[in-house]
Amino acid sequence: MRQIIDVNVTTRRVDLVKCKTDMLVVGRFSDAGDPGPIIRTLDDKLGGDLGRLAKIGDFTGKPKTSAVVYANGRIAAERVLLVGLGERKKATLDTLRKAAGAAASRAVDMKVKHVSLALHPSFVGAFNAETVGRVIAEGVYFGGYRYDEFLTENGNSRPGSLAFEIVDPDSSQLKDLSSGIATGAIVGRAQNAARTLANRPGNVIDPPALAKAAQEMVRGLRTVKCTIFDRKKLRQNKMGGILAVGAGSRSEPRLIVLKYTPAKKPAKDLPTVALVGKGITFDSGGISIKPAQDMDQMKFDKSGAIAVMATVRAVAQMGLPINVLGVIPSAENLPSSTSYRPGDIVTTYSGKTVEILNTDAEGRMILCDAITYAVKHKCDVVVDIATLTGACMVALGTYKAGLMGNDDELIAQIQKAAENSGESVWPLPSGDEYADEMKSKIADLKNAGPRWGGACTAAAFLRQFVGEAKWAHLDIAGMDLFTKPTEYSSLGSTGFGVRLLTTYLMNLAEKKR
Ligand code: BES
Ligand code: MN
Ligand code: ZN
Repeated sequence: MRQIIDVNVTTRRVDLVKCKTDMLVVGRFSDAGDPGPIIRTLDDKLGGDLGRLAKIGDFTGKPKTSAVVYANGRIAAERVLLVGLGERKKATLDTLRKAAGAAASRAVDMKVKHVSLALHPSFVGAFNAETVGRVIAEGVYFGGYRYDEFLTENGNSRPGSLAFEIVDPDSSQLKDLSSGIATGAIVGRAQNAARTLANRPGNVIDPPALAKAAQEMVRGLRTVKCTIFDRKKLRQNKMGGILAVGAGSRSEPRLIVLKYTPAKKPAKDLPTVALVGKGITFDSGGISIKPAQDMDQMKFDKSGAIAVMATVRAVAQMGLPINVLGVIPSAENLPSSTSYRPGDIVTTYSGKTVEILNTDAEGRMILCDAITYAVKHKCDVVVDIATLTGACMVALGTYKAGLMGNDDELIAQIQKAAENSGESVWPLPSGDEYADEMKSKIADLKNAGPRWGGACTAAAFLRQFVGEAKWAHLDIAGMDLFTKPTEYSSLGSTGFGVRLLTTYLMNLAEKKR
């Protein structure tokens, strides 16, 4: 099987006109009359080709656009790629991340192996160089990613590697840029590893395979301990939710625990953070079976789990001074003679009983046991991430994840991490009104509420299991995949949550350093 594209990001001090490269990437704002010193200098050498593109309207710097100009020996680079940055006043770090992603994606499509990005001076002015380096690296990894391990035909072969450098005639920023790139590469590689796992289909990744992938993900990291509960151990521990959902599949359910303990003692006042990720390797709905349309997308129902694994790896590679417990319940939700059924009453790990009204509301049934596990292991903060409800997708579309929780400070921290990481969230409620809808007459809870507010009632269900912990819930339904390629990404898994969660933990650790 093919390996994913090997990406490398570096820096180089070089005069842009003399920069020998397959492709020189330059950003342009759409509203700037003056395109800035970089484009001016290059345009001068290129006989006005760049300016002409703008003049005839072929490329004006609008977001999501780009244009290629061939240098034909007039500068050392083979070609120039202009990338649209949109309006200058709307520019954020994510503008830069996506521009770098678009450049990397374009390079892979054009089979270009050596790319040099000329840093736009207005970004270095507005943000510190380390952050700029991190964000560019994240974007390059993201945009350079392709999932093609099952393509056996070589006709459309793409390059096996992408060497991407940030070039600047001035050397003063390069050291900070490089240290940012090192962090961005850790995050970018972790996110791409997550995407490959998420993209693998249900016949390749079942819960035992997901558990093996988790072990693989943290192999060689001495600070992470991986423990796996098989069905026998799940039974011994009375993890009734995970067992119920996993009952219908020949593939056994699992609980995967990744415990990261920093090499150096963490600061005393830092919380122990549990990350809980939904790992349904395929969600058919079970006995309450889903319609056939788009059911294939339910291989992505393990995306929360994979975001957690990749985050633990990134955090361990960075050596962040904070305790993190990754808790990943995994099952395959299938209909069969051994499946759990509507009407069943399930006793969860917490001891609470749940009346099953819909076997397709399976995510909450496995998450509640994992949350209980985190709470029993004295985690102060629990953040769960799950492709939990179609209702969240109806509410927010495919641009923002739903964010619920019981603690304003934690919610604000995650909102800040979302801004920093470009993985966007939007707050939704999950309070008492919604919890009341989840009460059953014959058990403590029911697993499905009324039609309205499905994302909120699902979160309210989970809230019943968090005890005294500070808790946040990310409903990433709709954020887990691109159904079409974008200018900065191929189609398939987004790896959503890896940047968000690592940034949240980096910010926490940073605060106390
Ligand atoms: N995995 C689905 C949620 C989902 C739907 C994710 C579409 C991504 C895209 C989840 O297990 C589910 O089926 N939820 C049900 C809950 C309902 C039965 C209460 C839903 O949203 O319909
Ligand atoms: Mn479901
Ligand atoms: Zn599901």
